[in-house]
Amino acid sequence: MSITVRTFDAVIVGAGGAGLRAAIQLSESGFKTAVLTKVFPTRSHTVAAQGGVAASLGNSEEDHWHWHMYDTVKGSDWLGDQDAIEFMCRKANECVIELEHYGMPFDRTDAGKIYQRPFGGHMSNFGEKPVRRSCAAADRTGHAMLHAMYQRNVKANTQFFVEWMALDLIRDADGEVLGVTAMDMETGEIVAFHSKVTIFATGGAGRIYYSSTNAFINTGDGLGMAARAGVPLEDMEFWQFHPTGVAGAGVLITEGVRGEGGILRNSQGERFMERYAPNAKDLASRDVVSRAMTTEINEGRGCGPHQDFVLLDITHLDPATIMKRLPGIREIAIQFAGVDPIKEPIPVVPTAHYQMGGIPTNYYGQVVVPQGNSKAAVVPGFYAAGECACASVHGANRLGTNSLLDLLVFGKSAGETAVEELKKSPKAHKPLPQGEIDRALARVNRIDTQTGGANVHETQLAMRRTMQKHAGVFRFADLLKEGVERISEVQKSALNTEIADKSKVFNTARVEALELENLIEVAVATMVSAEARKESRGAHVRDDAPDTAERPNGRDDENWLKHSLWYKEGNRLDYKAVKLTPLTVETIALKKRAY
Ligand code: FUM
Repeated sequence: MSITVRTFDAVIVGAGGAGLRAAIQLSESGFKTAVLTKVFPTRSHTVAAQGGVAASLGNSEEDHWHWHMYDTVKGSDWLGDQDAIEFMCRKANECVIELEHYGMPFDRTDAGKIYQRPFGGHMSNFGEKPVRRSCAAADRTGHAMLHAMYQRNVKANTQFFVEWMALDLIRDADGEVLGVTAMDMETGEIVAFHSKVTIFATGGAGRIYYSSTNAFINTGDGLGMAARAGVPLEDMEFWQFHPTGVAGAGVLITEGVRGEGGILRNSQGERFMERYAPNAKDLASRDVVSRAMTTEINEGRGCGPHQDFVLLDITHLDPATIMKRLPGIREIAIQFAGVDPIKEPIPVVPTAHYQMGGIPTNYYGQVVVPQGNSKAAVVPGFYAAGECACASVHGANRLGTNSLLDLLVFGKSAGETAVEELKKSPKAHKPLPQGEIDRALARVNRIDTQTGGANVHETQLAMRRTMQKHAGVFRFADLLKEGVERISEVQKSALNTEIADKSKVFNTARVEALELENLIEVAVATMVSAEARKESRGAHVRDDAPDTAERPNGRDDENWLKHSLWYKEGNRLDYKAVKLTPLTVETIALKKRAY
C-alpha cells in the first residue's frame, strides 16, 4: 500500500531535552529537521526533572570535572565506560553555559552566578565530602530547560509534528536507517518520514513498573522500535529506584530536598542513613539510599498504619528557603500526600525512576552494535541520545542530575555528528524499502482488526505487577527465575491484544496497544538480563550475591565486569567489554563502593 512520504534531512523522534538539543544543532546548521513528538514539546518528561543539572562550575566552592568523573564512575559501580564519562564531565560546563545563553532562568547566588546545590554521590576531591554541583532553577529545572530549548528551536525553524507517534524504524537491506513510519494520533494517518539521519530521543520506559515517577508517555517507544529492527538493548537489568517518590502516588520529590538539608527518618524518628552511609548520609548514591529505606521498612521500622513508608523531614528548614528553593515540592506534598512540608514530614518510598541501559551508542551519539571479533559497527544513519540511549555513562547506577547533563551533552554530540554526516552525504535520499512500510501498516492493522485477543489494560497491569514483584529494589534468584517465565507469558498477550469495541477504534486505544508492544520488549529485556547477571552491582542487588571480603558489595568483577546486550530475536543475551580507559586521564581503579 502506498502512503504519504515526507522528506527531511534529519528526523528526530522525541522532543524532550535530548531531542530539542540535537534539533538545535541541526536546524541552526541549516538542515531541514523534523521533530516527532507524542505530546507538546514542553510537556515531554524532561519537564519533571526537578533538582538540577550537574556541572563542576565551582560557583559556590571549589570543584573540578575530574572529581565529577570520579563520582560518576564510582556511582556506576565501575560499569560505566570511562571514555564516555570523561567526555560528559568535561563537556558539562560548556553545555550549561550554552543553556544560560539560550535564556534558561537559573537561580542565582548573591554574586549573580548560577546557583548550585549538593546532590547524592557528588563529592569534592575524589569522594571526600558533598559538593555543590547541581545547577538549579528552583525545583523546576527540567521545565525551565525545555522552555529555553523549545524557543531556540522555534527561532531556528525546526518543524514540530506534535501528537505524532513513531511506529517503526525504516532500515534497508544494507542495514542503513532511512527514517521512521509514524502515525498522526489525531487522524490515524500513517506517513513515512524519509531522512538521511534519524535520531532517537524517546526517553525511558519507567511505565514497565507499577510504581513509577515516570509520565504515562514513557513507554520505551525507541527501545521497542530498535529491538524490532534488530538492534540489541544494553544493560537493561539496571533500573534506578528514586528514594523519594510520594508514598501511594509515586510522584517525584526531588533529591534536591535532601540537598537543601532534608533528612530521612524511620518510625523511631531516627536519621537512619547515618548507619548505612556514615560519610554522605542522606546524600549517598540513590541505590544505597533506596536499599536502606527498603531495609528499614522490611525490618519493621516503616511509618504509618502499615509501616510501609519512611519520612522525609524538612520541618527544621527556614520556611523562606522552602518557598524559594522548593516551591514545587511543597505543592506536590500538599496535593499528593496531604501534608504541608513546612509543618509535617512527607511520606516517601523508593519508586522506579530511570533506566540506566538503552540503545547502545558511542559518545558521538552514533548507534553501535557489536560485530564478530568483539568489534563494534556504527549503524549508518542512526543516532540515539538521552534516557533511551546507553552511552554508557551511568553503568549500574546513575547519579542524580547526571540525566539532564547526559541529555544535553549527548543530544548536542549526536546533533554535531549528524551535521558532519549530512555535510558529507550525497544530495539524493536512498530509496525507501516498501517491505518496511508494509510491516508497520500490518502492525497497526492487526491491532485495529484482531478479535479474540487480550485486553490492553489487563495486560499492562499484569506486566507492571510482574516487574514490580520480580525485578524491584532487591532481587531474589528464585523470583527472577519465575519472573522470566511470567513476563514471557505476559508478552504473548501484549503482542496479541484486541481493541474491545471495534465500532469505537479511538486512536487513544490504538496508541495504548502500540505502546504496550514497546513496553513489553523493555520488560522482557530487563527480566532476562537481570536473571542472567549472577552478581550484585549498583542498582542490581541479588540475595545470592552478598557483600563479602572476596566480593566487595557482592560484585564479581572477574566474571561480570561487562555490559549485557539483549536481542529480541531469539530472546538471547550477549556481552561486551566495559571501556576502562578514559580519554586523557588514568583509569579510575576498581574498589569497594562506600559513601
Ligand atoms: O531528584 C531529582 O531532582 C531528580 C533528578 C534526577 O533524576 O537526575
